[in-house]
Amino acid sequence: MKILVTGGCGFIGSHTVVELLEAGYEVVVIDDFSNSRRSVLDAIQEITGKVPFFYEGDVKKKELLRKIFREHSIDAVIHFAGYKAVGESVQQPLKYYENNLESTVHLCEVMSEFSCKKLVFSSSATVYGSPKSLPIREDFPLSTTNPYGTTKLMIENILRDLVVSDSHWSIALLRYFNPIGCHASGLIGEDPKGIPNNLMPYILKVAMGELPHLNVFGNDYDTKDGTGVRDYIHVADLARGHLKAIEYVMNTEGIDAYNLGTGKGYSVLDLVKTFEKVNHVSIPYEIRARRPGDIAICYADPSYAKEKLGWCAEKDLETMCLDAYRYVAKQAHKEEKVE
Ligand code: UFG
Repeated sequence: MKILVTGGCGFIGSHTVVELLEAGYEVVVIDDFSNSRRSVLDAIQEITGKVPFFYEGDVKKKELLRKIFREHSIDAVIHFAGYKAVGESVQQPLKYYENNLESTVHLCEVMSEFSCKKLVFSSSATVYGSPKSLPIREDFPLSTTNPYGTTKLMIENILRDLVVSDSHWSIALLRYFNPIGCHASGLIGEDPKGIPNNLMPYILKVAMGELPHLNVFGNDYDTKDGTGVRDYIHVADLARGHLKAIEYVMNTEGIDAYNLGTGKGYSVLDLVKTFEKVNHVSIPYEIRARRPGDIAICYADPSYAKEKLGWCAEKDLETMCLDAYRYVAKQAHKEEKVE
């Protein structure tokens, strides 16, 4: 079976490509390196001993997509490619609508032309907005608080319309909670450019001495220690979820959404303390005002994914912290050697 992975050099994409190759799938990657690095391809080869087919370019370019479909008999697509920075999406909404929507529409048009109608889409728990109760189930009302999230929800709706128009499509909408960690080899991981927005990448910069301290956004939430609670999930568990989703869409028709989370909520300070304990480093932090748009608590009810896809997360918070740090430490060591 041959799977096209858009954005296959990104954080979640690269981990999924590794899982696919190790499971014996043939993989074709398209990536424009807008938020990833070419060296990820070498790392994938080092981990798996296999090389995915690779096309450099933009998923919005239909001719490039057609070339890929002409050159490969693609059985299914996993669509990761998209912009994902919440703050930037507020500043530049049109960039987000144009890129995320157009790439998905063009991808589906070309898939349709080549009668490939099996798709796994990278959605997000952001589509639940501010949930009224917890844990969050897939049938909760959907709403968004920023343009990035709105692109995810709009794409979910576009894909639902597509399935109504043509029942041969089979689509899995995977709603990720908070992916962190990296492959146990320490060869691929999360390496955002500039000052990170998300908690774990920020902690990693503090651990490496690149930033002086963590800013904790609010300690007056109605949570056990006042800091925000999230459902952190190991990216390798998340990647495995995509393989289960591929197996599922290959054998079904229709469209459905699945939460990919652990079902457990940890506070910002839980994550900081666990990180410090397992990695024997100190993460100084300062309490700041709440970050606008943040919710107090967010964690999944992952039982639907277990029932339908036969998937559940396995790795605990300690492993997530260990693996995340191993990757940045290894990257820093490589850079030292180059210098
Ligand atoms: N936080 C800090 N300091 C930081 C960064 C984050 O205290 O420097 C806190 C936040 O206030 C929040 C928690 O850490 O309580 C997690 O924040 P993240 O930015 O890591 O993650 P979010 O839950 O805000 O958002 C993430 C993804 C979104 C996605 C959403 C889905 O970044 O893309 O999960 O629920 F939409």
